[in-house]
Amino acid sequence: MSKVAVVYWSGTGNTQMMAESVAAGAQAQGAEVSMFVPAEFTADMVAGFDGIAFGCPAMGSEVLEEGEFEPMFAGVEGALSGKKVGLFGSYGWGDGQWMRDWQDRVAADGAMLVSDGVVANAAPDGSALADCEALGKALA
Ligand SMILES: Cc1cc2nc3c(=O)[nH]c(=O)nc-3n(C[C@H](O)[C@H](O)[C@H](O)COP(=O)(O)O)c2cc1C
Repeated sequence: MSKVAVVYWSGTGNTQMMAESVAAGAQAQGAEVSMFVPAEFTADMVAGFDGIAFGCPAMGSEVLEEGEFEPMFAGVEGALSGKKVGLFGSYGWGDGQWMRDWQDRVAADGAMLVSDGVVANAAPDGSALADCEALGKALA
């Protein structure tokens, strides 16, 4: 059974809804899924998972959330080389620049992105949640 981690930050619940669909997709594919908030996930845990989904909304000015998510992610990205990774998150008024920058960053880390990052404008609709499930399946 493959092991999948879903590591996410969500201020108002939109990215959390996406995280739950990613987890459901991975579970449907037979994976053992663990969900974490940033304070619970560290670089030494990366090796214990076959695939990792990271979720964070666009914050600041088109950046990852800086109080909890960014410090966690900066700490783990050195361990992502060769790892199957998926990205997802919600945004508001922007055009998704934070996700394009994040994908470039993860690619530079040497991770294997299983798909384009899944984005949702505000609360995810059925289509975005289906994309999240597909992301979870691809990671499993
Ligand atoms: C402090 C703050 C900064 C934000 N910055 C951006 C931004 O740069 N670009 C954007 O598209 N949305 C931005 N947003 C909107 C959020 O990404 C959007 O509300 C998202 O749905 C929040 O997801 P969550 O419910 O998972 O916290 C910002 C929201 C807040 C509160």
